[in-house]
Amino acid sequence: MINISLNTQTVLVGVSMGIVVYYVIKRMRYRLPPGPWCIPFVGHYTVYSSLEVHRKVTELSKIYGPVVRLCFGSTTMVFLNDVEVVLEAMVKKKADFAGRPKIASGEMVSEGGKDIIFSTYTPTWKFHRRIAGKAIRHYLQGDLLENMIQNSMEEFLVKMAQEKEPFSVKNYVDRMVFHQLYTICFGEKRPIDDPEIEELLKLDDDIIEDFGVGVLEDIFPYLKDIYPTAKWKRMTDKMNRIMDILRTKFKQHVDTIEPGVNRDFTDSLLIARQEAENERDEAALEKLDDTHLIQTISDIFLAGVETTRFTMDWFVYFMTKHPEIQSKCQEEIDRVVGMERPSMKNRDNLHFIEACIFETLRLGNVAGVGPPHMTICDSQVGGYDIPKGTIVFINFWALHHDPKYWKDPEKFDPHRYLDDNDKLKPGKPDSWLPFSAGRRVCLGEIIAKPEILLMCANLLQRFEISLPDGVKPNLEPKMTGFGVEYPSEYRIIVRQRVVR
Ligand code: HEM
Repeated sequence: MINISLNTQTVLVGVSMGIVVYYVIKRMRYRLPPGPWCIPFVGHYTVYSSLEVHRKVTELSKIYGPVVRLCFGSTTMVFLNDVEVVLEAMVKKKADFAGRPKIASGEMVSEGGKDIIFSTYTPTWKFHRRIAGKAIRHYLQGDLLENMIQNSMEEFLVKMAQEKEPFSVKNYVDRMVFHQLYTICFGEKRPIDDPEIEELLKLDDDIIEDFGVGVLEDIFPYLKDIYPTAKWKRMTDKMNRIMDILRTKFKQHVDTIEPGVNRDFTDSLLIARQEAENERDEAALEKLDDTHLIQTISDIFLAGVETTRFTMDWFVYFMTKHPEIQSKCQEEIDRVVGMERPSMKNRDNLHFIEACIFETLRLGNVAGVGPPHMTICDSQVGGYDIPKGTIVFINFWALHHDPKYWKDPEKFDPHRYLDDNDKLKPGKPDSWLPFSAGRRVCLGEIIAKPEILLMCANLLQRFEISLPDGVKPNLEPKMTGFGVEYPSEYRIIVRQRVVR
């Protein structure tokens, strides 16, 4: 008995020593980025349990430099906090940082990485990104996008004009965006109170609200198998319901698609599958199963809806808060567009509004620290080693508030982007990356920018937006996981400028 216990003790001590030596040797091989000390296996609890992860990490980067290493549970995470290191990692280092880690919530949402956002850097991911990119570009042909936006906005604008009491603009803006993305994905224009879209919006809102600081299962993944939290179960149920709706829409498309007709994004994906079938391209066909295609639709729908609607919510918020800037936008619309409906042909001349949208994308922190990246090989950034398999976040908030690039960073100032003649300065502004950069750059940027511009121009042409008398704007943003921020709900009043 004594012998067995001694042996067990010896083995345990030996294994523990072995683990410690392994980690010490592993660490010595690399020059890892700096970061504060933490309790082993618990990690930097005060950072990952906070909704303000982006602000906390920015504070730490003032001490440790632009590349900061932290532990969430026992997992090492690296945060990139200035534009030089972000561009070095995401662009200069080509695909080194283009992987995605398997995180429990991502795996759940993407049915095991079968989508674009959560799938790691593989030939299958590249293939689906290419097909989805082609399907999105379909909308940029002719006046498809413009007509779709005008159609889906009109009824909402008419209804807004009928509001007699102060009302929540978010109710309208969020629905406009939902209806637009629904039309892009499924072709149909639905009534403004359509129960299916209402259900999708509610499910999406519930998930955002619930996700809050994130789920424990992302830090301690084994929990979901042995004792899932109530939050995890709720999120899984809601996500399953969203996927059921998307599956039904997909099936309807499979049953009704006609040769030579491309009604929408879903049809574009089915046409890609049909082409692979015609060419007997077995390798492509393998990747084009129903699950992968439905997951791509879900990405466009969810990635597109949240970011776009929060950007619109922020835009209206800033316009309400700065009436003088709102008036300047309206002067520009009156001068460039007149009484006609704002359209794509005006795009190159709406410099001031575009500058306001740039500033909204900088200050409205809709991407937070973005979805996590992962190194697919040993690499380096900012002079530090980043071993293969390290999770890496871009702290967009830090980039967009970096005092090296932004004078008075908290101030909403569209003039930052304009030259002396009030024309947009050429090129992308420095340290401005709301759509990220490199291999994983946002797939929807080419559609999001004109969509947002047209919505903003339509809205401000039609209405003067203000707070009810005596009401001050609520400055406290609401926050959800990964540092995403959106404005608190508030009520506005509108005065019609143009009657149609
Ligand atoms: C204001 C609007 C938007 C903003 C600010 C935005 C921002 C972003 C950001 C920051 C990322 C993460 C990039 C990274 O991992 O480094 C991303 C990814 C993505 N976005 Fe957007 N986005 C917007 C609208 C859209 C729209 C409208 C769509 C679809 C039509 C879309 C589709 C996607 C997809 C599919 C990805 C994943 C790309 C990948 O992992 O390869 N986004 N977006």
